[in-house]
Amino acid sequence: MSRTSTLYAEFKMIRFLYFLSTLSVAAAAPAGSSPALTYDYVIVGGGTSGLVIAKHLSENSNVPVLVIEVGGSVLDNTNVTSMNGYGRAFGTDIDWQYKSVPQTCGGNSTQVLRAGKALASTSVINGMSFTRAEHVQIDAWQTIGNNGLTWNALWP
Ligand SMILES: Cc1cc2nc3c(=O)[nH]c(=O)nc-3n(C[C@H](O)[C@H](O)[C@H](O)COP(=O)(O)OP(=O)(O)OC[C@H]3O[C@@H](n4cnc5c(N)ncnc54)[C@H](O)[C@@H]3O)c2cc1C
Ligand SMILES: *[C@@H]1O[C@H](CO)[C@@H](O)[C@H](O)[C@H]1NC(C)=O
Ligand SMILES: *[C@@H]1O[C@H](CO)[C@@H](O)[C@H](O)[C@H]1NC(C)=O
Repeated sequence: MSRTSTLYAEFKMIRFLYFLSTLSVAAAAPAGSSPALTYDYVIVGGGTSGLVIAKHLSENSNVPVLVIEVGGSVLDNTNVTSMNGYGRAFGTDIDWQYKSVPQTCGGNSTQVLRAGKALASTSVINGMSFTRAEHVQIDAWQTIGNNGLTWNALWP
């Protein structure tokens, strides 16, 4: 399973409207249906963090959650799905390609800052590397009041 389809699978309980290039609710509604017009939560940005929040908020199916993402689906984009494709999507339509101001300590050069512009956001262009924290760092989450968020509980 690709990283994006994993996110999709986690996401199917969400009352989800997906906007291609317009943020119009009417344009996104499937033919013959009308979307709910009120939501308890509106999340702007269907990215790594936004989708996790949406997934947890929508665990209660009575809570309508709307996610607005300006980018499109990339499930058919091999620059994303290729396991050895790191860097291929840089500079393409799914990269925001933010430009920095001239860097005075860098010969006044302008730098490009990458960020994903797609459903699943920067996870569609990132390197998929994972660095495990120290167990004391994970256990600290419980210490500050998040009961059950421990190294041993998360290990599986
Ligand atoms: C090149 C690169 C490589 C990386 N490699 C790794 C790695 O190997 N391992 C790792 O753990 N992390 C890596 N990261 C970091 C990680 O990918 C990001 O920190 C993380 O994905 C950020 O998620 P986010 O949801 O906070 O923000 P973003 O990914 O920026 O998500 C924001 C979302 O909001 C959308 N959006 C923005 N404005 C609007 C708007 N007005 N309306 C609607 N939608 C909007 C964007 O299109 C985007 O989908 C890498 C990052 C980069 C740039
Ligand atoms: C994939 O990336 C290459 C450059 O790395 C680009 O030319 C091509 O258009 C990209 N494909 C898609 C579907 O965006
Ligand atoms: C960078 O720009 C500043 C302001 O224009 C200038 O004073 C400085 O000499 C420049 N530095 C380099 C390395 O070009």
